[in-house]
This record gives sequence, structure tokens and C-alpha cells, in this order.
Amino acid sequence: MCGIIGYIGKDNSVNHLIEGLRALEYRGYDSAGIAFFDTKQKLNTVKAAGRLANVEAMMQITPESHCGIGHTRWATHGAPDDINAHPHGTPSLRLVHNGIVENYAALKEELTALGYTFESETDTEVAAKLLDYYYVKEKLTARAAIERMTSRLVGSWALGILFADDPGTVWAARQGSPLIIGKGENEHYIASDITAILSRTRDYYQLDEGEIAKVTRSSAEIWKDSKPVNKELKVAHWDIEAAERGGYPHFMIKEINEEPTAIRTTLHSRIKDGLPDFSGDGFDTSVLGEISRMHIIACGTAMHAGLVAKGLLNSLAKLPCEVEIASEFRYNDPIVGKGDLVLIISQSGETADSLAALRLAKKKGAATLAIVNVIGSSIAREADSVLYTMAGPEIAVASTKAYSVQTALLYLLSVEAGLVRGRLSREDAAKRVSELYNRAPEAVAEMIAREKEIETVANKISGCEDLFFIGRGADYHLAAEGSLKLKEISYIHSEAYAAGELKHGTISLVTPGVPVVALCTVPDLYEKMVSNIRETKARGAETFMICGADTEVAEGTADHIIRLPEISPELAFLPEVCALQLFAYHAAAARGCDIDKPRNLAKSVTVE
Ligand code: G6P
Repeated sequence: MCGIIGYIGKDNSVNHLIEGLRALEYRGYDSAGIAFFDTKQKLNTVKAAGRLANVEAMMQITPESHCGIGHTRWATHGAPDDINAHPHGTPSLRLVHNGIVENYAALKEELTALGYTFESETDTEVAAKLLDYYYVKEKLTARAAIERMTSRLVGSWALGILFADDPGTVWAARQGSPLIIGKGENEHYIASDITAILSRTRDYYQLDEGEIAKVTRSSAEIWKDSKPVNKELKVAHWDIEAAERGGYPHFMIKEINEEPTAIRTTLHSRIKDGLPDFSGDGFDTSVLGEISRMHIIACGTAMHAGLVAKGLLNSLAKLPCEVEIASEFRYNDPIVGKGDLVLIISQSGETADSLAALRLAKKKGAATLAIVNVIGSSIAREADSVLYTMAGPEIAVASTKAYSVQTALLYLLSVEAGLVRGRLSREDAAKRVSELYNRAPEAVAEMIAREKEIETVANKISGCEDLFFIGRGADYHLAAEGSLKLKEISYIHSEAYAAGELKHGTISLVTPGVPVVALCTVPDLYEKMVSNIRETKARGAETFMICGADTEVAEGTADHIIRLPEISPELAFLPEVCALQLFAYHAAAARGCDIDKPRNLAKSVTVE
């Protein structure tokens, strides 16, 4: 998703803009650009399709500048080309934008009638020209012009703005898309998130919905509804090391390696006397005993974590639970309200559909809880209660450690629900919590230690174009995540099927040599899975099995076997997902894919 950076201060702004945009690359983008004042206070724009390096290549030497804005664009309106790249503007101003202006067509018509012409297909250029209208034609002050312009927009935006006649100021505005203001020594930044400025400062102000900011070297002033807002200066605790690759070839593999620690860190403060304790989060778990139903709403990998939780809430707490994709939930007139708990899961806390689903659930009177990784993000701030996962920054587009900590935390929450609802004794709960905290991270570490073995197996499928994951029960949900991981980074087409459903249609696609990965970690369902593997083998499939450490596998059951480390089946999902992540990673590596920045994908999806 688009990334924004801005700088005003004593240093060369162009260096900071490029460095900031590089740190934001993980969000996904397909063009980039910067606008900056040169030493003659002239406003320049450099932008190009493709990678940031193309922008750098257009400037033979780094221009001298102390004020500028920059942008990485993830195309929504118009192709990812040089003209549609941001910044957009007029001789009087430049603007960068993250979000979508939904009413841009009507505004464009209005501006065309006023004599404005447009060179790009973007909604952003419309916003820039509307601002020009209020600033140049209506002669409003900068702040009044931004207020008037944003009051006309429908949709979402985070904006960075420069006015040609004020080389000492960066303006910013936010509605629905994230933006922060970083404070350095006699310098300020604006940025989509803290990773963009972490190497320069940890001090920042969070911009809230509807706010407009004026940022100079020495000050950051913020207004909402034309009234000044006093903001608390926050300090980011993520360290820069964590936001860098630390010697690994890709962020994805670095982040997989961080899973054992991230799981322990997430759980540590939530276990007291061997039992779950969410008091430090300010979350009153008695609600888990009062509700009749839980709805888990999320997108992508976070939604798959929700599917794992559904099974756990059912088996440990007998709590009915529905899992829905946020973009479906919000438009399906959901039956949800008082008596329900709506849980939103989101790594970024900014996913547009998940945020909208949260707002809808609140409007309908449901209690809301969020599981979020990014502190202070929109979802975290708007939910009634929030449980932060402590994975640290996740940079690779393909989510790995975020899923592991989400599911580990959801397991702890399910144990708590089991206690509150009288379904688990304290002894049962304590046994489970102990295995979760003491054994599960170790088991994940042991899985990672067997990376070479998984690489060998992954190399066998790297040349294929279609593949099936099958599983039953909890393994079916793991299959969904394994399949998503593989397709997003290796571009191998894959499908996840409930193993029993395969024969109702899809088995027609299993022909000689097609790989089938069978997840077989649920003991009660093992024999059923073996029958399903046989069905695919009979059609010539090359079969891969993932099973428990002690599972007795009869000779010839599968062509390749990956065994999980010792762990109870209820917690197998943690080492199992790690194996699936490594499998996808090595398949993609063997195919020479751009693992951390897969084509067309964005890390943080802040548009619908
Ligand atoms: C994007 C990312 C996925 C992520 C999903 C939900 O599609 O590429 O990795 O699972 O958004 O993101 P969230 O931040 O809400 O967990």
C-alpha cells in the first residue's frame, strides 16, 4: 500500500526521503516519487514507475534541499506508470496521497468546468487540483484551503503537501489512512508508519481522524475542526535492528526465525501463577462467559488465524464462533449485536475492511476486542479492548511471525474462555498453558533447525505450476494458510481442500505428477487422511505428508514425509505453520522470486 514520507530540517531532505521510502518498501508499491525545494527555493518533482532506484537514477547528484515529501504508490486508479506516480500538483503545490478519493469523478467534472486539466488517471490529482482551486483561486490560507478541500472528499486519505510559496513547511492531513509526525532535533518528519523514520527518531505524534498538521523545523501544530489539538509525544519502542534484515537473505526468513521469541514475548505478561491473566491488557474476560457467540473478523493470514481459534474456542470452551472475511462481513448485513463479542485480528491494525467491520460491529452494539501488532494503530485505538501481539515489526509482505503470535495468543484466550465458561478445570488449563509457553516455542525452534530438510522437499515442487494442500479439522485451516503462503510468494497455483471434499470435484485435477501436500496431525482423523492420500496416489499424485513426531506411518503411505517435533496435537499448529512457511519460502527461493516483495501484493491494505 502507498507509503508517505516528509522531511523538514537541517539535513538534506532528499537523502531522508529516499531512506524513508526504502524503509516503507515493505508496504508494497509499483512507482515512487519525491517533491522537494532546492536551494533557490524552487519546487522540483522527480517520479518514476517501478522501483525507487529509478527515481534515484533520475537525479545524477543528490540535490541540495531541506524540505520535501515522498511517496511509494500502489496503483488503484490508473496504471503504475510515470505519470500516475505521485507527487501530483500544480505550479503552486505538490501533494502525495495514501487512500482512495471515492467521489473523484464528480470532483473532476466540477474542476474541468472551472478550467482545470488533468494529465493522470489518479484520484490524487483531483485532490491536488481541488486544493489549488481553494488556495490559488479562492485565495484561502493554506490551512483553510486544506480544510475546504478535505471537507469535499469522500473516502480515505493520508496527505503530505508542499506549497510553492512556503518552502519552510510540510502540511499533512489524515482521514482513514495512517500518518504520524516524527520529531527530531530541530527537524520534523511525516510518515505512514514509524519504520520509515526509526533510524532517525523514536519520538512521534500520532495523527488522528480528521486532523490537519503544519510541520516546520521547530514545530508541529495540529488542528481538528479548525481548533488546535494538543498531542502527547509518544516514544516508539521498536528498535532499528528489528526493522533491518540482521544478516538474513530475506525479511521473511528472518521473521520466521523470530517466531520462538515472539511467541514467548507475547505470552509472557499474560500468564500469572500458571494461568491466563489478561488484567494487564485491561480486558475483563468475564465477557467470555456472558456472550452467546463470538465473531472473528479479519483478512488474509489474520483470518486464517481466526479459523484456528474457532476450532479451539469450540473444543476448549464450547463457545460458538463464526469466522468471516472482513470485506464480506461489512456488506452482508451481519446479524450481530448486544450479547456478541466481535474480535478483529490484524497485524497492521490499519486494514481498511477490518477497520470498517469493527466500526460496523460497534454501531450494531456488539462488544469489540482487537488482536493487533502495531501499537496505536486505528483498529487498536477504536476497539473496546485490545490485546497487542508482540511480534515487533513485520516487514516481509507474506505474514509469518504475526500468524504465529496471533494463534498462540488465541490459544491462551481460548483456555481462558474454557475456564470462564466452566469447561476447563484449573489443572487442565495450567497444563495447557505450560505446554504453550514452555514447549511450543521450543518445538518451533526445532522445526526451524530442520530447515535444510524442508528445503530439500520444497525443491521437489519448485518446478510445478499446480499443487493441492489437503487436511481435516485443524489441519484444513493450516492447509489454507500453507496454500496462501505458497501462492503469494512462489506464484505456484495452489488450493487448500478439506480432504473429504476433494473427491466431490477437484480430484479431477489430480493427474500424474501433481503434488498433494497432506496435513495429518490430528490423531483421530489420521486414518481418514491416509485414505484420502491413497485416492490421490491412485491418480498418480506425488504425495507429501506432514505428521506428528510419533505417528506410525505404514510403508509407502506417502512419497515424502515431514515430521513435526514432539508436541501435543492441540498445539501442533505452531510448528506446523512454521514448516509450511519454510516450505513456501524455499519453493519461492528455488524459483528466484522476489520473496519479500511479491508482485501485486501490499503489506498493509488501507483501501477496500
Ligand atoms: C495483506 C497482507 C497479508 C495480511 C492481510 C491482512 O493482504 O499482504 O499478509 O494477512 O493484508 O493484514 P492485517 O494487517 O490486517 O493482518
